[in-house]
Amino acid sequence: SRGAKLKGKRVLVTAGGTMERLDPVRFLTNDSSGKMGFAIAEAAQLMGADVTLIAGRTTAAVPSGVNVIRVESAQEMLEAVTGRFADMDIVIKAAAVADYRAAQISGQKLKKTGEKLVLELERTVDILETLGQRKQHQFLVGFAAETDQVERYAMDKLRRKNCDLIVANDVAKDGAGFNGDTNIVQVYSSEGLVDSMPLLSKREVATRLLELIEARMNAAGGSS
Ligand code: PMT
Repeated sequence: SRGAKLKGKRVLVTAGGTMERLDPVRFLTNDSSGKMGFAIAEAAQLMGADVTLIAGRTTAAVPSGVNVIRVESAQEMLEAVTGRFADMDIVIKAAAVADYRAAQISGQKLKKTGEKLVLELERTVDILETLGQRKQHQFLVGFAAETDQVERYAMDKLRRKNCDLIVANDVAKDGAGFNGDTNIVQVYSSEGLVDSMPLLSKREVATRLLELIEARMNAAGGSS
């Protein structure tokens, strides 16, 4: 058995992509299926944790028995996550959150006009960075989806967003990243590389990641 290594721990996981509306019938989103975050939520539950899953747009099946809160936009995900942050022990941000949203959401369907259409986008709030600033006792884990200079960008995100760990996936590699059932990740702490996983199922990545988190929390003198 996996035992109950996370018994009594409150774990918040985000999954899927955000959906940023342009008008009543159109939106911007990304390729996230939710599989990585769902696998983490499911594995955490099997390890005895009390799991809250906050999910954007997903195509994969939601793990059974997990409390799921649905959100659409980055702003809604921000509110759902920050509102629950104080009560959590571990937060894992596997969601693919939009960096930009429409500067204006049109109330009416946008009309076809000239040959070209320019959309004005504005930055969304960075949820992980917000959590990093507010962090107290929580163990905070971010993801980094990169296509090049993976270590450099992942370490940069870890520091900027004040994470305890960052899980980097080179989404340009076959078998890694969006949509599939497998991933290839490297996990970094502020001291550098702590685990380099080979091609594994997202379930296996999830379990190995949670075991790593649990070991580091215990080593840091966390209770029980
Ligand atoms: O859902 P799947 O199809 O299984 O795919 C899994 C995945 C590729 C989506 C997942 O493994 C992954 O890499 N998730 C993070 C994707 C991402 O948005 O990465 P990023 O490098 O752009 O963002 C870095 C971190 O900041 C992430 O933890 C992200 O959740 C967070 N972020 C980003 C922008 C923002 N406005 N707020 C955030 O919190």
